[in-house]
Amino acid sequence: MDVSQAVKNRRSIRSYVSKDIESDKLDLVLEAARLAPSASNRQEWKFIVVKDKDKKAKLTIAASNQGFIGDAAVVIVACATEAQAVMRCGQPRYTVDLSIAMSFIMLQAQELGLGTCWIGAFDEACVKEILGIPDDVRVVALTPLGYPAEEPSAKPRKNMEDIVCFDTYK
Ligand SMILES: Cc1cc2nc3c(=O)[nH]c(=O)nc-3n(C[C@H](O)[C@H](O)[C@H](O)COP(=O)(O)O)c2cc1C
Repeated sequence: MDVSQAVKNRRSIRSYVSKDIESDKLDLVLEAARLAPSASNRQEWKFIVVKDKDKKAKLTIAASNQGFIGDAAVVIVACATEAQAVMRCGQPRYTVDLSIAMSFIMLQAQELGLGTCWIGAFDEACVKEILGIPDDVRVVALTPLGYPAEEPSAKPRKNMEDIVCFDTYK
């Protein structure tokens, strides 16, 4: 599968089969995060791979009871180890860095036949307590990772002309 296909075929997966992920596939997914670009190549991140059933169940509760999260083989929790820096453009560095890394994870997973779903609806304090994450570390996103038990159809997107303009903002 090439990148275009992965981009085109990826869906948010909200149903998972009860099957472990081969360790070489998990390694490839994590390698995609490791190789992702970051501001000044600082790589101020940590990815917690949660396999423990009890912790996955607790994360599900912390994430607005979205039950499918705990059904996946693992949950990846994307953390920023430095959350103060703001770039000259005014954007916080860590949300941008972690979002890129998560996107790499999602596309690599897609190539491997694995499902993901960006989870933004979670209580950060609860997630931090469950996983022993230090106070100064921020949790940017979670994703379940596992074999999909559904094949959702594509969600609608805006038309190209509504989101792209050339040379001047229109
Ligand atoms: C920042 C962000 C937060 C999201 N949070 C959740 C979430 O908490 N739960 C969920 O089921 N999906 C969540 N999603 C997934 C979106 O609903 C999904 O990407 C969107 O509906 C488009 O569908 P698709 O991913 O299948 O193309 C989130 C996506 C993003 C980018």
